Amino acid sequence: MTLRIAIPKGRLQEPVLAVFAAAGYDVPSSKELQSRRLVFDKRGVEWIFVKDCDVPVYVEHGAADAGIAGFDQILEHDCTAYQPVELPFGRCKMMLISAPGATKLEKVATKYPRIARQYFDARAMHAEIIPLGGSVELAAVLKLTSHVIDLVETGETARIHKLELQETIAEITPRLIVGRTVYRTATQEIRELIARVEEAKDVYATV
Ligand code: PRP
Repeated sequence: MTLRIAIPKGRLQEPVLAVFAAAGYDVPSSKELQSRRLVFDKRGVEWIFVKDCDVPVYVEHGAADAGIAGFDQILEHDCTAYQPVELPFGRCKMMLISAPGATKLEKVATKYPRIARQYFDARAMHAEIIPLGGSVELAAVLKLTSHVIDLVETGETARIHKLELQETIAEITPRLIVGRTVYRTATQEIRELIARVEEAKDVYATV
């Protein structure tokens, strides 16, 4: 059986490939990755490279057997895939952040409209959600919104824009996800994948 594994492009790509390489998989080389190719066949594994927010979508629908997805994207997509391994890098927090001096919650900019809606509904709080594609903090800086919901890693983006960290909504880590159907069949390749990633995950623990 050929395994199809979804790799998130962007900041997780390099450490994730390092983990798979340490796990003994033949991952595409940096030279190969310079091409515009999105699919690579390597010794029984088909690697696909997708936007980080799309990894749960490919796995949920069975278009990929497994992938690496941030818990933020797993939550946002209500992804039901199994999460057998948590990776020890890329840890951050999803937070409610306010514009400097904002006292009232009015509008909230975010890349995570579903999480934001659930968060406010669970607290019977009212806020208009403004979906954005990135650089979300700017919305609070420009007073487009009173608040934002976004990821905080070092806190530097919030600090230099004098934004105020209000509350942690979720602790976020990247995880190996495996589609439910594939997991249930528990083929040797899947069992091996989980065991090998678990064993190799600390290769990038210091990043
Ligand atoms: C992420 C996140 C914050 C920033 C937080 O953005 O959305 O903007 O990093 O990191 P910090 O706390 O270390 O400053 P990313 O760089 O992924 O780009 P984006 O804003 O376009 O999503």
